[in-house]
Amino acid sequence: MSRLSYALCALALGQCALAAPQLSPRATASLDAWLATETTVSLDGILDNIGASGAYALSARAGVVIASPSTSEPPYYYTWTRDSALTLKALIDLFRNGNLDLQTIIEEYVNAQAYLQTVTNPSGDFSSGAGLGEPKFNVDLSAYTDSWGRPQRDGPALRAIALIDFGNWLIDNGYSSYAVSNIWPIVRNDLSYVAQYWSQSGYDLWEEVNSMSFFTVANQHRALVEGSTFASKVGASCTWCDSQAPQILCYMQTFWTGSHINANTGGGRSGVDMNTVLASIHTFDPEATCDDITFQPCSSRALANLKVYTDSFRSIYSLNSGIAEGVAVAVGRYPEDTYYNGNPWFLSNLGAAEQLYDAIYQWNNIGSITITSTSLAFFQDIYSSASVGTYASTSATFTAIINAVKTYADGYISIVQTHAMTNGSLAEQYDKSYGTSLSARDLTWSYAALLTANLRRDSIVPPSWGAASANTVPSSCSTGSAIGTYSTATATSWPSTLTSGSATSSTSSTSSTNSSGTTTSSTSTSTSTCTTPTSIAVTFHELATTTFGQNIYVVGSISQLGTWDTSSAVALSASQYTSSNPLWSATITLAAGTTFEYKYIRKETDGSVVWESDPNRSYTVPSTCGVSTATESDTWR
Ligand SMILES: *[C@@H]1O[C@H](CO)[C@@H](O)[C@H](O)[C@H]1NC(C)=O
Ligand SMILES: *[C@@H]1O[C@H](CO)[C@@H](O)[C@H](O)[C@H]1NC(C)=O
Ligand SMILES: *[C@@H]1O[C@H](CO)[C@@H](O)[C@H](O)[C@H]1NC(C)=O
Repeated sequence: MSRLSYALCALALGQCALAAPQLSPRATASLDAWLATETTVSLDGILDNIGASGAYALSARAGVVIASPSTSEPPYYYTWTRDSALTLKALIDLFRNGNLDLQTIIEEYVNAQAYLQTVTNPSGDFSSGAGLGEPKFNVDLSAYTDSWGRPQRDGPALRAIALIDFGNWLIDNGYSSYAVSNIWPIVRNDLSYVAQYWSQSGYDLWEEVNSMSFFTVANQHRALVEGSTFASKVGASCTWCDSQAPQILCYMQTFWTGSHINANTGGGRSGVDMNTVLASIHTFDPEATCDDITFQPCSSRALANLKVYTDSFRSIYSLNSGIAEGVAVAVGRYPEDTYYNGNPWFLSNLGAAEQLYDAIYQWNNIGSITITSTSLAFFQDIYSSASVGTYASTSATFTAIINAVKTYADGYISIVQTHAMTNGSLAEQYDKSYGTSLSARDLTWSYAALLTANLRRDSIVPPSWGAASANTVPSSCSTGSAIGTYSTATATSWPSTLTSGSATSSTSSTSSTNSSGTTTSSTSTSTSTCTTPTSIAVTFHELATTTFGQNIYVVGSISQLGTWDTSSAVALSASQYTSSNPLWSATITLAAGTTFEYKYIRKETDGSVVWESDPNRSYTVPSTCGVSTATESDTWR
């Protein structure tokens, strides 16, 4: 984030700098101990920033991630497609590793994105795909219509990557039908956008430079590579992914300067930028080698780049004065930054650490470290006797370097520990001279960055996206495009619970199943069969703010919903209604597989009827083996 450098706070800098006075006693706790509590603070901080029940996001729609609760100086109470996708990527990481409580939030995010794709906005509309490049929306998912740096073409790629991660989990755990019906239609639109528009310029992730951006193209490449694999898993194909991914990979090579990765083709800066470190960690593949072509975290290019990037801040932040090269320091977005007078960012320190933890994972996985002339200076900073060569994991050099890199990585995070607020809150920035928190408070992305850095520190890594077989640069390249398809994603109902490994109880699943599921699904020999349901208890949830005497009903095209006759509509109950969560609900038993249209209506005290706005809603009752209930969550419109 960071938004345009409108110098919102620079105008009132004294006030901003003093906004959050704090001490830093946490720095005395060990990093391990601090992280043990800070991970809880961070997850809570994220959940507080997601509608409709997050404490700071009560007016946001369900599943909508706000960037920060800050409504002025700077105003970040909006939802950004990029920040949201990166945040959900972190939540899905936690979900995949056992936090199944996150199911509802993830599903609500998916449902919100299905709708958001269709919202016409200043970047364009849905039918041309152009609207998918809009960076930022209001928290009720209406278009943000003031001037802004648009389009930003990283959003659809990052959203596809997050959704594919969840989709693959669904497939691996016996819920393939939901990957097909709920995930793929959204992903297909995003992949279509990437393939059609990747070669056109757009604003970078900091929303300042309108050109081609490394972070954007690197994530676009990844999205198309894993998008193609995901398509085949859901019985589809993505020819436009297959034609464009190699071309993007080819174009990515032009960003390598010989000493670092250039962040943007425009902007008139050095090109040294956090953009490139973020690109490396968000395209990290734990099964890849230290591949320069895909700029893997342990690649010579990415390590040389991290040194150039880090060193660019050593002389410009007073916090860093007197600290030698090879020791972690406070790092920011890019050395020329003037936003809030140019300061270090929490997510920058966390991202730098994450790259090094990723690299450690890769070296251990590969079983050796190779030092090249490109990466030599990076290694010499932290291990003075480093020289070009390959060091097997059995060697003392390997062990010494791994330990030095771990110390270096922890150093970046210790700086976060020192400057975090005493209660653990992480803002966007911290002052380059005093370390006090600056700019937006409780920044969602800061918390997501802490969680993923901590997971990688613990060697908990995401699945491979296929980098190892997507690193061949074509002999001739072009910056072209390919046309996919855009169609509205409509399926928004989900199983009431998702259970890891439940695939083993289904009969004829052709999807790959997680064999360890046998350990979780009990040892009883019964029920390896699973019956297809005839009826499903469908719960309709509608968030509708009402006044005393007003009541909410659902009416629709099937007889159980009154065949559009408002006098036969089904009443919803307000028994769970609160002012912060205005929930109306009703459970209706419907035949499995039935498709119908419906709308909610409000009946006034005088009996008159107010209809929701168009279009009609559509729903298909699940008919998935083993499913007996479903919940449809809607918000009055
Ligand atoms: C920490 O304190 C700040 C300032 O009082 C507050 O805005 C923030 O919500 C608090 N964070 C937590 C996690 O309690
Ligand atoms: C299955 O899931 C478990 C728990 O999430 C994991 O430890 C295991 O590696 C998975 N197995 C396979 C074959 O994917
Ligand atoms: C909604 O459905 C009703 C009944 O079929 C129909 O008359 C109406 O035109 C539909 N509305 C829209 C916007 O399609």
